[in-house]
Amino acid sequence: MPQRKLLDVLNGLKTSPPPIWLMRQAGRYLPEYRETRRKAGSFLDLCFNPDLATEVTLQPIRRFDFDAAILFSDILVIPYALGRNLRFQEGIGPVMTPLQADDIEALETGDLHKHLNPVYETIRRLRAELPKEKALIGFCGAPWTVATYMIAGRGTPDQAPARFFGHTEPQGFEKLLQTITACSAEYLIRQIEAGADAVQIFDSWAGVLDEKSFEAWCVRPVTEIVRRVREKYPEVPIIGFPKGAARHYDGYRTRTGVTALGLDWMVPMIDARRLQAEGPVQGNLDPMRLRAGGEALEVGIDTILDGLGSGPLIFNLGHGITPDTPVEHVHTMVRRIRERG
Ligand code: CP3
Repeated sequence: MPQRKLLDVLNGLKTSPPPIWLMRQAGRYLPEYRETRRKAGSFLDLCFNPDLATEVTLQPIRRFDFDAAILFSDILVIPYALGRNLRFQEGIGPVMTPLQADDIEALETGDLHKHLNPVYETIRRLRAELPKEKALIGFCGAPWTVATYMIAGRGTPDQAPARFFGHTEPQGFEKLLQTITACSAEYLIRQIEAGADAVQIFDSWAGVLDEKSFEAWCVRPVTEIVRRVREKYPEVPIIGFPKGAARHYDGYRTRTGVTALGLDWMVPMIDARRLQAEGPVQGNLDPMRLRAGGEALEVGIDTILDGLGSGPLIFNLGHGITPDTPVEHVHTMVRRIRERG
């Protein structure tokens, strides 16, 4: 196996400079993405077109020479594959028919892989086309985060609809989480079979829950996904990203069994260092520092390298890159990280 820096770090080694990739690295801040996106038609058409999805996955690798590619898809292909209607609306984001308790038994798990086959095909093509030293990351959404969009039917500021649903329809909600958990585990296993070197579980809305709900709705389902994937692929590294989890980051790695922790930008350095003492960490530049550029960016990069550069670190943002980020700032970021070594 050729040296893949990202995998070395996920195996607990320190590398200088650290491997770099960015959440949402294929996206609207890139003119070449916007062009392919126009050709594809809808966003879902792009996700399910192996030619075009392969192309947009490779675009940021060509431009910035990142150390890892992340499969181009979306966490919401799971609800789509379960029969929920989904569209991505310009200026709003994902829109679905809000899920009612009665809909949960009717979720169609039978055709899961039929819907998702184009994604597996994209991964096979990517593994064939990517340079050998680049790692390929697969992903899914964590069940809680996926459920929030299914219940509200769109993004909300604090996921109040899903939190309310969880407390007023506990049995239905449990069944919903179990269904998403089972499908997500199978989805990750198929991604690994197709050629993903590592996988990330995005729990973007982990930060809005109280302690008991965090345990029941974030930790427990992610633990189950990790268990099922490990049963089949004990060696494949898994990155957990419980965004906004704050104090709940403590113990998340041990309890869920994830290999590495994705840190959001709000995690203080003293905590990040303690978490890194237990294993690899990924993060955690504020996307607004990258967007701002200049001194804000330099200070942000140096703080992370000074604080975390002596242990297993994957350099990343603390959340996705935003569409208004100047491409030149990304070049500057990569240059600074690699020059500092
Ligand atoms: O480059 C990559 O990171 C890989 C592709 C990827 C996308 N979405 C592409 C995308 C990944 C890993 C995701 C994950 C995802 N999708 C998450 C978890 C990470 C996070 O950002 O918190 C979530 C919550 C979603 C759901 C989702 N998809 C939302 C809320 C939106 C709208 C927001 C927006 O930026 O428009 C999307 C759309 C989406 N997913 C886009 C991209 C490139 C933009 C759509 C477009 O091109 O029109």
